[in-house]
Amino acid sequence: MDESWTRIAGVGDLADGEAIPVELMGVNLALYHVEDGWFCTENVCSHAYALLTDGWLEGHLIECPLHNGQFDIRTGKGMGPPIFEDIRTFPVCVEGEDVFVQLN
Ligand code: FES
Repeated sequence: MDESWTRIAGVGDLADGEAIPVELMGVNLALYHVEDGWFCTENVCSHAYALLTDGWLEGHLIECPLHNGQFDIRTGKGMGPPIFEDIRTFPVCVEGEDVFVQLN
């Protein structure tokens, strides 16, 4: 693993089905642990200002707490109104007990 990867959490920090906010290098990130793996997106909704980790995670969909817009955490794709702009996603890698993310 090269230095483009940054440790973001420990595998024990999130239960299956959980999302947590992490600020890394000035970027608000959401880290998700779901049945088939780990995913990372921006944490600020693209519609207005709300943190997605304050919303609800159901399978691969995160629902914004403010106006209930939804994003697919695997692709960052907005799933329809009021979301018209996707969010960024970041590669995640688990090595041993540590979870790493690649910001660039
Ligand atoms: S702020 Fe997220 S749906 Fe409006």
